[in-house]
Amino acid sequence: MAEPPIFRPSFGNKPENLVGRDAALNTLVQCFDSYPGMRERAVLITGQRGMGKTAMLLEASDLADSKGFVAVRTTCGTALLDNILDGLQHAGNLMIAQKKPPIKGFSAGALGFSFGLTFTDEARQSYGFKTKLGMVCERLEEKNLGVVILVDEVRPNSEPMRQLATAYQELAGDGRNLALIMAGLPSVVSALLEEETLTFLNRATKVRLGSIAESSVRQYYSSAFSRSGRSIAIKTLRDAAAATEGFPYMLQLIGYYLVSLTNDGEQITSETLDEALILARADLDENVFLPMVRPLSQTDIAFLEAMAQDNGTSKTADIQKRLGMSQGSVQSYRKRLIDAGIVISPRRGELCFVVPMLADYLRRRDGSRT
Ligand SMILES: Nc1ncnc2c1ncn2[C@@H]1O[C@H](COP(=O)(O)OP(=O)(O)OP(=O)(O)O)[C@@H](O)[C@H]1O
Ligand SMILES: [Mg+2]
Repeated sequence: MAEPPIFRPSFGNKPENLVGRDAALNTLVQCFDSYPGMRERAVLITGQRGMGKTAMLLEASDLADSKGFVAVRTTCGTALLDNILDGLQHAGNLMIAQKKPPIKGFSAGALGFSFGLTFTDEARQSYGFKTKLGMVCERLEEKNLGVVILVDEVRPNSEPMRQLATAYQELAGDGRNLALIMAGLPSVVSALLEEETLTFLNRATKVRLGSIAESSVRQYYSSAFSRSGRSIAIKTLRDAAAATEGFPYMLQLIGYYLVSLTNDGEQITSETLDEALILARADLDENVFLPMVRPLSQTDIAFLEAMAQDNGTSKTADIQKRLGMSQGSVQSYRKRLIDAGIVISPRRGELCFVVPMLADYLRRRDGSRT
């Protein structure tokens, strides 16, 4: 099979290299290395679309393997609990079979299991999720293996999510070697944290995925282009890295178009970069900004458009003037947009976009309507 391409702009795939996420990776390592039941064992990853939440969960899944944890990765939906148990049974049996030196099989006749991690019919029918999960954990602990549950695209108001949270808390309290890593959009996660049964999540370790440092992008581009057989002048390399604004999906898009617009052995020129940027921005609008703006109200959008008139940081007082709003309304829209993970307040009285390119998108969108 041919080598996979270096740049793969998509969603939900593992990048060739997880650029500029050392701090976040460190948190994942600590999650596995900490003692069962510690707050490090529950991690909540947030980030806007394309910031790399799923990529982090995929990384956590690989890390789990090397740390002696059986991992199950699933999205939050109605089948969440069944998916977790099925996935753990499958991955656990595989891990036991593949371990080198081989781990001896499970003792026969453990209560509730017919063989390996498969429940007896009776256990399957009579026990609830928490009991079954606890049984799987205990059984894997016999083999010195922990369990990590990775939940992507968490949602509020989900009964399975509540059951998972309760089970996690109780089993972690009993000292089971269990970890829980969840990921979601900032707006969704803030709604989740408000739920009564899920307040323990407020104590979970938070990983907020923001933009990647430009220097890390530059370094990575330099290595990736040279491995793709393309040369590039330092200035163009800097411009390309700056144009990503540290946004992982954009890093993949720009890298992808720069490589596909040139042939092996050719140079990536500033004209190639101009062309790549047009294509990358069109994909970004379609796949990130459109879905980000769609659920917002007219006033949310007007608020963001008022911010987009500034270059970089906006003063709340200026936004208030531009919109002719009361101070109270400005504060409540400000909070909504911060909770939605779209803007942040770098200093008191100031606001800026989490993904700065959104400002550019709003200006272009505004321009195309008038
Ligand atoms: N640190 C990184 N370095 C390089 N590429 C990355 C990094 N993080 C993510 N990517 C790439 O960026 C793209 C988007 O990442 P991912 O699908 O993980 O985002 P997401 O936050 O899960 O988005 P969504 O909210 O839409 O599910 C993918 O192509 C992924 O491989
Ligand atoms: Mg994702």
